[in-house]
Amino acid sequence: MKDNNYVLIGYMGAGKTTVGKALAKETGKKFLDTDSLIVKQMNLSINDIFEKYGEDYFRDLETKLIMNLCESANDCVISCGGGLPMREENRTYLKRLGKVVYLNVNETDILKRLKNDTTRPLLRGPKEEVKIRIHDMIEKRDPLYREAADVVIKTGRHKVNEVVSKIIKE
Ligand code: S3P
Repeated sequence: MKDNNYVLIGYMGAGKTTVGKALAKETGKKFLDTDSLIVKQMNLSINDIFEKYGEDYFRDLETKLIMNLCESANDCVISCGGGLPMREENRTYLKRLGKVVYLNVNETDILKRLKNDTTRPLLRGPKEEVKIRIHDMIEKRDPLYREAADVVIKTGRHKVNEVVSKIIKE
């Protein structure tokens, strides 16, 4: 494991980007975000990639990216798309990449945060259906996030700087 990188994982809306940017600033590391890197590489939004090429294609892009970051990323905070740790292969790369921190938020807070989201293809559809989908995804993903993580941080309603301090102390 590289000990100079932090890797943030967790469900959509867990605050990986916000916390990641603050953590990078506090530690003087570079901030990277897998979604943003893929958007830049493809010159398409995440919604458009899913629509044009399908989810599997997006997941392959994630795997290639995380594999490459294992070689290239040093002194970075890397925020990962919520679905990235679902592939077993990716979990191996994450461990190699750095200290993996799972930002854990409860379902009620996740629902609140994602209520009006239009940027995430997996949250499209009628509200009630989306709610059930989120519930099922959290149940399915939580054990895999835990398996991938070196540290689990409950973020709940804590302030960003408190979460950052907790991560640094771990
Ligand atoms: C996804 C999470 C998104 C993005 C894509 C799929 C997921 O990233 O990669 O919409 O499967 O949970 P964020 O977790 O940064 O929202």
